[in-house]
Amino acid sequence: MGKDVIVACDFDSAEKTFEFLDRFTEKKPYVKIGMELFYSEGPSIVREIKKRGHKIFLDLKLHDIPNTVKKAMAVLSGLDVDMCNIHAAGTTAMMTAALEGLTREDGTRPLLIAVTQLTSTDQESMERDILIKDDIKNVVMHYAMTSRNAGLDGVVCSPAEAEAVHAMCGKDFLTVTPGIRFADSAQDDQKRIMTPEAAKEIGSDYIVVGRPITKAEDPVAAYERCLREFVD
Ligand code: C5P
Repeated sequence: MGKDVIVACDFDSAEKTFEFLDRFTEKKPYVKIGMELFYSEGPSIVREIKKRGHKIFLDLKLHDIPNTVKKAMAVLSGLDVDMCNIHAAGTTAMMTAALEGLTREDGTRPLLIAVTQLTSTDQESMERDILIKDDIKNVVMHYAMTSRNAGLDGVVCSPAEAEAVHAMCGKDFLTVTPGIRFADSAQDDQKRIMTPEAAKEIGSDYIVVGRPITKAEDPVAAYERCLREFVD
């Protein structure tokens, strides 16, 4: 399963998104739609991008009571997204409810992956604000294991964590890794980065790449470079 480059379409309008996607005339990239684009354009943006032949990772990071998440997931499943996500902190009951909501009458469903600890949370803020006193690496691994036991397909994690997640949860448990930069490109605000080639070596299943492609002078060439380094 997997091994693909997911392009983070962090644009604030459908117009800018289509202007960007129109450049890809041959292979249509797997696209990540985040909260900004989804909340500004609504479900029609998902339908439109699907119609153009792209796979979609809808990155809305749901976290609510199980019944609410189950019903929301049924809506996303009806939109025919290929991958979506929830917070593992919502507990096993929420994760299993999400899976139920996602599963269509014919038994098929989009991939469901978990957010463990957001990379914006560090040891200090985790201890101070959410009273989790354990080592943050143990917390990430614990969430990964809980997600696997609940039947989810994988986690979003930093490339540096992908190897440990696979060692603990098995090779088939997907690792979806942002924080990707070419050896010769800007780091932006990403703290822990890895090249597509290194992410392939450590066994990432999907890399999520935003600015190195969206802000490149030639986005199609940058995307093709990612494919060459990560997939070929
Ligand atoms: O532009 P860049 O390649 O940094 O974009 C990475 C994408 O992955 C963004 O959409 C960002 O929100 C997302 N992401 C991340 N780190 C996480 C989770 C998601 O960079 N831990």
